Amino acid sequence: MSEGRGPAVGSAPGKLILAGEHAVVYGHDAVALAIDRRTTVRLQAGPPGPLQVESAIADARLRAALAVALPEGGLQVRIETELPVGRGLGSSGALAVALLRARAAWRGAPVGFAQLHAEGFAIERVFHGTPSGLDHAVSAAGGALRYRRSPGGAVELAPLPTPAWPIVVLDSGRAGDTGAMVAGVRARRPAIDGALDQIGALSATFIEALRRRAALAEVAPLLNENHRLLREIGVSDDNLDEIVAFALRHGAAGAKLAGAGGGGVVIALCAEPARLLAAAAAAGLPAWAAPIAAPADPLEGTSP
Ligand code: MEV
Repeated sequence: MSEGRGPAVGSAPGKLILAGEHAVVYGHDAVALAIDRRTTVRLQAGPPGPLQVESAIADARLRAALAVALPEGGLQVRIETELPVGRGLGSSGALAVALLRARAAWRGAPVGFAQLHAEGFAIERVFHGTPSGLDHAVSAAGGALRYRRSPGGAVELAPLPTPAWPIVVLDSGRAGDTGAMVAGVRARRPAIDGALDQIGALSATFIEALRRRAALAEVAPLLNENHRLLREIGVSDDNLDEIVAFALRHGAAGAKLAGAGGGGVVIALCAEPARLLAAAAAAGLPAWAAPIAAPADPLEGTSP
């Protein structure tokens, strides 16, 4: 990496999945949004020898993931993040994209969506085994994204209008393990294939509604149905179900777990987010209104 002109910085947003998690691993549509919480990677020259790593992400797989993108030594890597690990916020996808952007800046070479997505898979596989690629796709693209990857690996994706509905994120405070949740779903197939198909169909409906800029009242029930199906495939739990019920009791029109499940966050669509945020604060439940990250260099280098 002696060609570098560092120090160099790369950054990327996390994500929320509006519809289609888990089903997307089996070739169905999903919809995700980039959010305005980011991971930032800084690279600078270090002493010869192994990478020197200073990281806000404490994860046993981190060094292996870094080695995918930075096989050479003689570098210092500093990682800062606003994305807690295992909460369905796409922390590893954001890390993958931020790291590849930092490496590109270090090398003084531009990097576009197609390269970020292709190379990001190798980093995501270190964390999650068999990712669909959705998480790092939306981190790289920003905005709202329709994503589908066929079992053969062909990817179809397209930017979608960014929804205007207020979205509240409620954090269970527990980390789920995406790789383990995906493996659990795989082990329950084919018994749950009908539910995965229904999640995929629901994503397609959601995409069509987003394209028409449908009102919150029309799309919110899709979240409730999506959550019911996620419970059916075994990725929700009592605590996440309670948080969904809490959101619905306090003004949300629709709510679902978002991400792999087994912990992580619930997202809620509500016309009056202040009411839900106040109820969550009174109950000691961490919650925030999700600002959407604008498209970056959306889908540059791909044929959506
Ligand atoms: C995790 O954020 C989303 C999953 O669908 C896994 C994946 O798409 O790789 C559960």
